[in-house]
Amino acid sequence: MRFGLLTGGGDCPGLNAVIRAVVRRGLEQEGDTFWGFRYGWAGVLAGETMELTFESTAGLLPRGGTILGTSRTNPFADGADGLSLIAHALERAQLDVLIPIGGDDTLSVALRMAEAGMPVVGVPKTIDNDLNATDFTFGFHTAVQIATDAIDRLHTTAESHNRVMVLEVMGRHAGWIATYAGMAGGADAILVPERPFDVKELCARLVHRHRRGRTFSIVVVAEGATPKESLATSTTHEGTDAFGHERLGGIGAALAEEIEEQTGFESRVTVLGHVQRGGTPTAYDRVLATRFGVAAIDAARGGRFGVMVALQGTDIVEVPLADALREPKLLDPAFYETAEVFFA
Ligand code: F6P
Repeated sequence: MRFGLLTGGGDCPGLNAVIRAVVRRGLEQEGDTFWGFRYGWAGVLAGETMELTFESTAGLLPRGGTILGTSRTNPFADGADGLSLIAHALERAQLDVLIPIGGDDTLSVALRMAEAGMPVVGVPKTIDNDLNATDFTFGFHTAVQIATDAIDRLHTTAESHNRVMVLEVMGRHAGWIATYAGMAGGADAILVPERPFDVKELCARLVHRHRRGRTFSIVVVAEGATPKESLATSTTHEGTDAFGHERLGGIGAALAEEIEEQTGFESRVTVLGHVQRGGTPTAYDRVLATRFGVAAIDAARGGRFGVMVALQGTDIVEVPLADALREPKLLDPAFYETAEVFFA
């Protein structure tokens, strides 16, 4: 058999570990070959492939990013007949099955393939952890660790200067990174997209905390969090990507300014940005990515198409792609309420 792979959307620690696992497991069957499309769906449209061998995938386990490259290219953009373009690319590369590794955008294309009866098996990826039908996606744990390290570092400088430190982390629709890192780092407030926040109420809580003798505070805000009343944010970048998403960022700076104005406490902002997506995956993410890779090739070889491999509890399972994409997986309210116990 000939297997195709691609990595699409934002990169994520653990992508290379999945590629390595697919190839290593796949090579157990003599005669099979593995082909990676370069730069996500862009490589499919351009017919740009590279062979993935034992040698070319050696040493990938701890390596961040993706050796295939990635992009946010949408084969259906501008009304294109994406399915025909993909079918043509698979035929030209003589592939029996495609394994796209990606988040909701990349896998939405996989779902359209599946609905058209094409051979496809998805692997879930996003640092945001907002894909449904899987308890975790690889990359999330690494991002949380990076954000937690940042909070630990912000604590010592906040304490030295008696400041309010606002940390802006990623999280477009869901506050998973913010809440996990905020809980692990002992944040005094965590603001998430699922719960529009009241700036006045936040400031009152910070003032109350400082009146009780604390001299500094840490506020973690997800990039997609929104205030109930409008803030003069600089969040709007021109245009959207090929899947219609606007580029977020700016809520942290606006918030720090507002906190300083309303409370009189000197405030600073740190925007963690793509640092959260860079570098080596944690041990947890390496293991999860490896398990996903092995499960994906097993599903593909077994002819079980239209599924996504997923983590449910401690088991790796296969779920219909449609289940993963029905809606974003938002924060569990009970989980957020546990984090809230420790707020200012
Ligand atoms: O979807 C994952 C994500 O990391 C989001 O949290 C963030 O909004 C976005 O990607 C950033 O994308 P880009 O790499 O295109 O700036």
